[in-house]
Amino acid sequence: MCGIFGYTGRKEAQPLIIQGLKHLEYRGYDSSGVAIQNGLYSIAFEKTRGKIKNLEEALRRHPLGGHTAIGHTRWATHGTPNQLNAHPHLDNENKIAVVHNGIIENYAHLKEKLKKSGARFRSETDTEVIVHLIAKYYRDDLESAVRRALKDIRGTYAIAVICSKEPGRIVAAKLDSPLVVGIGDKENFLASDVSALLEHTNQVIFVENGDLIVINRDSVKLTNLSGRPVHRPSVKVDWNVAQAKKGGFPHFMIKEIFEQPGIVTAILRERIRNAKIHFDELKITASEFKKIKKIVVIACGTAYHAGLVGKYILEAFADIPVGVDTSSEFRYRNPKVGKDTLVIAISQSGETADTLAGLREAKAKGALTLVICNVLASSLSREAGGVIYTHAGPEIAVASTKAYTAQLALLYLLGFYFAGIFKTLPNSKMRKLLKEFFQIPSKMQRILELYKREETEWAKNAHDFNKRYHAQLEKYFSTDPLKRKRSPNGFFLYLGRGINFPNALEGALKLKEIAYIPAEGYPAGEMKHGPIALIDENPWVICIAPASGTYEKMISNIQEIKARGGIIIPIITEGDNQMRKLNPLYSIEIPRCSELFSPLVTVLPLQLIAYCAAREFGEDIDQPRNLAKSVTVE
Ligand code: G6P
Repeated sequence: MCGIFGYTGRKEAQPLIIQGLKHLEYRGYDSSGVAIQNGLYSIAFEKTRGKIKNLEEALRRHPLGGHTAIGHTRWATHGTPNQLNAHPHLDNENKIAVVHNGIIENYAHLKEKLKKSGARFRSETDTEVIVHLIAKYYRDDLESAVRRALKDIRGTYAIAVICSKEPGRIVAAKLDSPLVVGIGDKENFLASDVSALLEHTNQVIFVENGDLIVINRDSVKLTNLSGRPVHRPSVKVDWNVAQAKKGGFPHFMIKEIFEQPGIVTAILRERIRNAKIHFDELKITASEFKKIKKIVVIACGTAYHAGLVGKYILEAFADIPVGVDTSSEFRYRNPKVGKDTLVIAISQSGETADTLAGLREAKAKGALTLVICNVLASSLSREAGGVIYTHAGPEIAVASTKAYTAQLALLYLLGFYFAGIFKTLPNSKMRKLLKEFFQIPSKMQRILELYKREETEWAKNAHDFNKRYHAQLEKYFSTDPLKRKRSPNGFFLYLGRGINFPNALEGALKLKEIAYIPAEGYPAGEMKHGPIALIDENPWVICIAPASGTYEKMISNIQEIKARGGIIIPIITEGDNQMRKLNPLYSIEIPRCSELFSPLVTVLPLQLIAYCAAREFGEDIDQPRNLAKSVTVE
């Protein structure tokens, strides 16, 4: 949800800002801009609509020289994505420039007041009020002016501000939107997340809500909004720059899909020692856990689907009731949670606004809270009672893949951990299950190897789908009434049962997100209560049907689809001859594994199907339209 990057040092700032913004582009990419101190009375700036390559192109034609600059990549909230609404925003005299991530709630009121006192607004954004407020309070001290302006503002923000009269200085502030300071050698940086800093430094300061930061070439000063100094430790992050690059893969998404077996292996190695589960960073004690009578999981998007799988896992391992809610529903419903409840928030970024609000709601009601999260020192991990990090490395593709399997892996381990505390599984059973778990990464790897071997075949199938899909659309939208079919056009239906049902939702979500193909995930048993009405020769039905306790039921559901002329693509356990008899369009075989752990394996072909479809359709896989990696607004 918008990315901010700032630099002050000896180097030319423009290329560094562009490079930093490219790392942050996954956060928003409808427009971008840069503002630079170039030694003149006013700030030099450039803004363009569209992706950062447009900004880069514009700057190639008219480069901006200078050593202190701020940049922004936008995901529009207020005002259409165009050049005027792009950040930075500047005051009347172009001497102060601001970039902002967040939402200013009282901007309309402030705008009216500022207009009356002479501020000339050039955009429709909420952000622009910030720069006019700072200009109003500016008396040759940018830090004081920013501090004063923030007192008038209601909302959320991470801002970075420069002023032409204060060379080498960037003033920044944070409230509920992420901001990290990167410490370099006679140079300092600001960024919305760590991955953008790794090219330059892995020594960072995680800024906290209410902090005001002044960075110069060789100093970083943090105070609170009243001006009192605050101390935040500088931390060495263990992510490296290679993790934030494509490493020879054409897209981050496919790179991240291929990282998954390694990540699950690393999680198992890190967390299981002497046949015991270790969550060293957890902060919650066994006796606190013993008091809980139920668990509620809150999350959004892909993380929500991980939560749904988590329900099956935690109920099976820990024998405790588990409810799962999308964060945006949970927070507005007066949820029935209290001292006897553990609320687990799952989030890759740790910054999702709805999940953060849900966590705060749960805390206010006295619940014990725990977050499973990927990004170190994120807002959720700081506010939750306890934290478990997935350590999956930076996830750059907007569509989440490796964070999902890492979240699942941690949920299994949490299940084992609770089983130990609540004594719900005999040791022998635990050992057997753990042994099985250790074999899962190699099964995941086999699917990726199959994909590598048969990549041309996968591409051919995607191409075949493309042809059929467009033929279907033609029939549907044909102007010739004889050709026109009154039938749903090409779409995908994903069916699963039991612990694989959430993967049906996840497979459909991936296809919608990156290939823009209508898709729906459904529990196979519910087909007969509605979706079966859609079945004719049009929809493509992906059936997640590995060996399981409900396999026979799944076969019956598939028979019902076949009987109505539906096209089926089953995901089956290798050696499954029964499914072949149903004459699928093609089937995808996965290695044999227990039903309990199968979601970690069945999700891989689903991710790959979406990837191949998006590639065939020529879509922007890593940065799908209208989406953002981290949704820090409601
Ligand atoms: C956005 C992303 C999704 C992600 C969801 C939740 O919608 O595009 O990929 O699953 O946010 O994000 P979180 O960081 O909380 O997991």
